[in-house]
Amino acid sequence: MTTAAALEALASPDAADPAWIWRSGELVPWDRATVHVNAVGHASVAAVFEGVKAYLAADGERLLVFRLEEHLRRLLDSARLCRLTLPYTTDQLRAAVVELLTANDYRQDAYLRPWAFPGGVIREQMVPAGTVCEVLVDSWPFSSALETGRGCRAAVSSWLRVGEASMPPRAKAFSNYHNGRLAMMEARENGHDWPVMLNERHKVSEGAGACIALVRDGVVTTPSLSSGVLPGVTRDTALTLLRDLDLPVEEREVDRSELHLADEIFFMGTAWEILPVTTIDGLTVGDGTPGPLTRRLSQAYGRVVRGLDERYAHWLTEVKLP
Ligand SMILES: Cc1ncc(COP(=O)(O)O)c(C=O)c1O
Repeated sequence: MTTAAALEALASPDAADPAWIWRSGELVPWDRATVHVNAVGHASVAAVFEGVKAYLAADGERLLVFRLEEHLRRLLDSARLCRLTLPYTTDQLRAAVVELLTANDYRQDAYLRPWAFPGGVIREQMVPAGTVCEVLVDSWPFSSALETGRGCRAAVSSWLRVGEASMPPRAKAFSNYHNGRLAMMEARENGHDWPVMLNERHKVSEGAGACIALVRDGVVTTPSLSSGVLPGVTRDTALTLLRDLDLPVEEREVDRSELHLADEIFFMGTAWEILPVTTIDGLTVGDGTPGPLTRRLSQAYGRVVRGLDERYAHWLTEVKLP
């Protein structure tokens, strides 16, 4: 599968709508999960979300939700940063995810989107602090593109990543994505697949929907969490796996020119998984194919998410297929 196909599959218009969506405490039939049209503007400005994946276990009998605890924690962190009130506990949201996956009866990898938006029709221009949110969990099938040999062309964007001085980059808020969207459109217009954004200090930050790392002389370097990045769960997973493989890892400020001199570059994200970068700003990275360390990491990641590596079983929430 090509990169574009793999990523478009996440939003595939022909993926059948699921039977159920979880909304505010119960499963609701898909086509009855509606809101008043007047709620839309505020819902989209002040909403936070997560992207989580459930992989079909190697035995085909279970779905394994990958690092659900960390994603739910980040959802609550995002709500706090945006001063929204979520009326559900982590335990309730975990149960919602399991209930939804079971009801929709997926027998393949599934993508989950827990999200929260201010409930009701809000007339104030600014959504007030503390507004109580409706919480939803949506889901749809996807196909993993791990180890398909895919790669992508990336380029540094003229758009800077939002920073602490404007909006908290640590929040996974829909409004932050206008930033990544502008950068993505620019990249596409210029013949690349994905942007890399620099931060307010003009150091490397991240992609439009994934963190980034480079490899030079066997050392993996990724921008530190104060570089304007979303604290990525995949980033944390990759760093853990690399350290456990005894490979040297650095988290620090990264210059754009370091990307140009890298032996390998890869994006890391729930949706993108481990995505090799084959060109950066028009320069070929390595020999233009996924490098050895990126492939090794990708293989390790694939084993972990499918439940084939016992050492990381604590990262998996098991959902037995009926
Ligand atoms: C802006 C941004 N950065 C990084 C990531 C990677 O985060 P994670 O690995 O938790 O999916 C995402 C994806 O959610 C993202 O949207």
